[in-house]
Amino acid sequence: MNIYGDENHKIYNGDIINTLENEIQDRSIDLIFIDPPYNIGKNFNGRRDKWQNDEDYLTWCYKWIDLVLQKLKDTGSLYIMTSTQFIPYFDIYLRERINILSRIVWSYDSSGVQAKKYYGSMYEPILFCVKDKNKYTFNSDEILVEAKTGSKRKLIDYRKNPPQPYNTKKVPGNVWDFARVRYRMPEYENHPTQKPIKLLERIILASSNEGDTVLDPFSGTFTTSYVAKKYNRKSIGIEIDQEFSKIGIRRVLEQFELNGEDLTPEPKTYQTKNYPQQTLFESKA
Ligand SMILES: C[S@@+](CC[C@H](N)C(=O)[O-])C[C@H]1O[C@@H](n2cnc3c(N)ncnc32)[C@H](O)[C@@H]1O
Repeated sequence: MNIYGDENHKIYNGDIINTLENEIQDRSIDLIFIDPPYNIGKNFNGRRDKWQNDEDYLTWCYKWIDLVLQKLKDTGSLYIMTSTQFIPYFDIYLRERINILSRIVWSYDSSGVQAKKYYGSMYEPILFCVKDKNKYTFNSDEILVEAKTGSKRKLIDYRKNPPQPYNTKKVPGNVWDFARVRYRMPEYENHPTQKPIKLLERIILASSNEGDTVLDPFSGTFTTSYVAKKYNRKSIGIEIDQEFSKIGIRRVLEQFELNGEDLTPEPKTYQTKNYPQQTLFESKA
């Protein structure tokens, strides 16, 4: 295992189980975001995201789920994702061990490959859980979104006495509309399942405070640690792949060289070649 960074932002290039067992103190983490391999056959730099059978995948997942629960403070929160096929198993396993407060749907506008003989998958599920449902952080004012109904049409709510205009802002519901990370977006990194900054902003602003520690044990491109740092939280990221860990070293530690290797990202093809320009995709939320 290789360790980079300092007390505020740490990167472990190693395996989740080994790192959690040996490096992270029990009850030390305020917020955990987990976006594991989904067991759907993606290619993570040659490491295949497909287990022999469903049972093997779930046995492995339950092992690290038990460990992350140990690492969470009693006031801590956990956001956990997996594929639509496997989230029911996570749900049933977790509801015996922690309080699931929201079942979130991250909805997006493109399924990548177009399904022709079934309905293409346009969402990914996220479970929002807290250890103690009477004592946890939820900064609703930090994540308000535009209320699209009454206030947009400038309606008056006559059920109130005296009648009042509808609120212009509201706490988001459990369907989240954020664009997936596309090649042309400035945040894009070379990784098959990079999560958008906007998704992690909502999670980190709602469920942690400045100075808190945020852990992501399947860091990929280190979106979680990057956003945690942006909002003055501490971060711990674990990632087994060395090349992906280098993305974190650049993105989070802002280090552009490692053992003589230049970590500057490759320029995008449209920056080096004379391709026609097009507009960027923007997230709706
Ligand atoms: C779904 S991706 C995470 C993407 C990340 N949320 C992001 O925004 O870029 C899962 C990551 O887990 C890593 N991984 C797979 N097995 C691992 C293990 N045993 N320990 C630590 N990381 C692992 C993969 O290399 C991959 O980068």
